Amino acid sequence: MVQRNTLLGLGFAGLLGALALISAPNAFAADEPKPAAPAADAVAAPAVATPAAPAAATPAAPAAAAAPVAEDPDLTSDDPGKVAAAKARAAAAQLAGRKITEVTGKKPAEVAAANPLGTMRNPYTDNAEKIEEGKKLYFSYSCNGCHGGGGGGGMCPALTNDIWVYGSDDDILFRLITLGSQDLQKTHSLKRKGSENVVGPMPAFAELVKTDDEMWKIITFIRSLYKGTRRAW
Ligand code: HEC
Repeated sequence: MVQRNTLLGLGFAGLLGALALISAPNAFAADEPKPAAPAADAVAAPAVATPAAPAAATPAAPAAAAAPVAEDPDLTSDDPGKVAAAKARAAAAQLAGRKITEVTGKKPAEVAAANPLGTMRNPYTDNAEKIEEGKKLYFSYSCNGCHGGGGGGGMCPALTNDIWVYGSDDDILFRLITLGSQDLQKTHSLKRKGSENVVGPMPAFAELVKTDDEMWKIITFIRSLYKGTRRAW
């Protein structure tokens, strides 16, 4: 579509150019027989092209410029695996542009309330020291009782796979662990997008996990357990 429009646009511009060239010599050299034939062609062609060409030519340039960025061909693939991978790439690119959230030492509930949904980004991602500290916190708050020591699930959803009940990014996990699943649903009007073997409420940890620093460490540890192929945070 875009390419055809562009061609139409170029064709039209070419015709205009040709007309201008042709009409100029015509004005001065009416005795020349050559321009007469192309002029007839040129007049006949725009009669058909004129109604379509100006409309098509105007949007063609911006559309062509935006196309390579916005459109990943895999997004419309018949292969669900390719579509999922393309979506993950788009999500990762979007997250990479997000500002890293400042650590304040405040309570997680305060931090969650101060930042609009979908704006937080973990300051500790992939930091080995924070992963170790997060691991201790994960066990000290008994997350392992429900999610397993390795995050493999069992009684509760796995933290290691590509299924994320409310979304995969750290902003969502921060809010989910802070508010619990019922409050998360109410506060942000979120519904479950995915579900695993267990569908049940996740308790709120707003009163237990003391600071955003602790919360980000726990999330960093959870991320280190991931065994999927579509990382997007
Ligand atoms: C009483 C059991 C229980 C405890 C304890 C618990 N969780 Fe959960 N967790 C759940 C359930 C159930 C869900 C699924 C919620 C839903 O389906 O709405 C969940 C969901 C999650 C998810 C989202 C998983 C996904 O696949 O999208 C994360 C992350 C998580 N919990 C982290 C934690 C952390 C960190 C702790 C400790 C601070 C913790 N949980 C403690 C039961 C628990």
